[in-house]
Amino acid sequence: MKDFFAVSGLGGKKVLSGTIPVYGSKNALAPALAAPFVFREPLSLSNVPLLEDLKRTEELFSDIGVSAKARGRTYTFTVPKSIETSLSEDIAKRIRASILLTGPILARFGSVSFPHPGGCVIGERPIDIFLEGYRAMGAIVRETRRHYYIRAPKGGLRGATFYFRTQSVTGTETFALAALLSHGTTVLKNAAIEPEITELLTFLRASGAEIEGIGTQTLVIRGGGLLKRRAPRYRIIPDRIEAGSFLILAALAGKKVTVRNCEPAHLDSILHFLSHAGVSLAVEKTAVTVTARRDGTAYRSVGIKTHEYPGFPTDLQAPAVVFLTQAEGDTTVFETIFEGRLNYTDELNRMGADIRMMDPHRVLVKGPTRLSGKTLESPDLRAGLAYLIAGIVANGRSVIHNAYHVDRGYERIEERLRAIGVPIERKTK
Ligand code: EPU
Repeated sequence: MKDFFAVSGLGGKKVLSGTIPVYGSKNALAPALAAPFVFREPLSLSNVPLLEDLKRTEELFSDIGVSAKARGRTYTFTVPKSIETSLSEDIAKRIRASILLTGPILARFGSVSFPHPGGCVIGERPIDIFLEGYRAMGAIVRETRRHYYIRAPKGGLRGATFYFRTQSVTGTETFALAALLSHGTTVLKNAAIEPEITELLTFLRASGAEIEGIGTQTLVIRGGGLLKRRAPRYRIIPDRIEAGSFLILAALAGKKVTVRNCEPAHLDSILHFLSHAGVSLAVEKTAVTVTARRDGTAYRSVGIKTHEYPGFPTDLQAPAVVFLTQAEGDTTVFETIFEGRLNYTDELNRMGADIRMMDPHRVLVKGPTRLSGKTLESPDLRAGLAYLIAGIVANGRSVIHNAYHVDRGYERIEERLRAIGVPIERKTK
């Protein structure tokens, strides 16, 4: 059975009102699911978003012998003394983030094998950095056409100095976790500093890990074996991409909408973008309210260049492009992180947008344009959400197929959207 969304477009009217909650972050959950391997005691995660990746990881854990217990949004994971270190082809291929598990499993159990996580619509998604890092820590990497077999040296992984030739979010998380269970000191240079990383590292440090440089691009991590904190419990941070997507929607279709349960300190780039475009924002401690302009004039367009944190997130690029189709002026959007992450713009053009592809990394968006409802296939989670937003803004009805892509990043989105007045339904074909 395949779900899809049916949306009755608001035709540019700004009528949504009320409060929309932000749930725990998908991309903070990913490294948190790898964290139980560095603890001696069971690790509990709270504020867990109930997403597809969680279900798949639970299946993978059950395969390899890690137990998971759920109570509402709190999950407790127990890693036994020995596990199966070969990750199943089917699951590992479907969740790219499963690559994160390979570092701590290798460091704790001495070996790991897994299939290539595979490319996806936003680009190639190679794993060469991971293999380079494991080799730098003394591991032997054997590759076949479809599989990787990695073995730690006798006595375990060795701390190493490792320079990321390109900043990698999951790479930084993986090596930081592996380094904790290695011998000696690991220095990670040009490390990524996304909040999903720094919050977890801060928790690990509070749990006894020796980590210096948190929040900077150089991390110094001393390996010291399993962390011994009693009953460790980590709260997943609010999803900054979900918050940003809701703010964009609120700016385009809201009369007065409050995005709550968010962390405004993680939203600098999107708040800056929206306020420069002329969106009226009121920022509080854990909420941001967007109020429609009284005079009804169009927003100004503002250029975007995606960048590692604290720059403009690539994961918000697609929703922001929908915003720009409704803003006055011509502007360039430069996607610097992933090739192939602008391909979804063809479908926005079919809805009436004027977006010109200059090269695989850059588009020119001319606005404002009137969008009309269409039947669309969501290519990945972020572009899928962009299509939903476009459908809400458009005239007429839109159908967005492949709801499961959107579900991968946004838990029960239609219920939260309906609560602020979006005419949206989930249907099953
Ligand atoms: N890269 C390599 N080799 C590697 C790893 C990465 O060349 O071995 C390249 C990538 O191709 C990319 C760049 O390095 O050009 C940065 O990618 P990064 O490794 O940072 O991406 P990631 O860790 O795989 C995470 C998020 C993504 C998000 C990116 C960038 C998680 C689970 N995923 O991916 O989230 O787009 O960082 O911020 O944290 C999404 O949520 O829609 C999503 C794709």
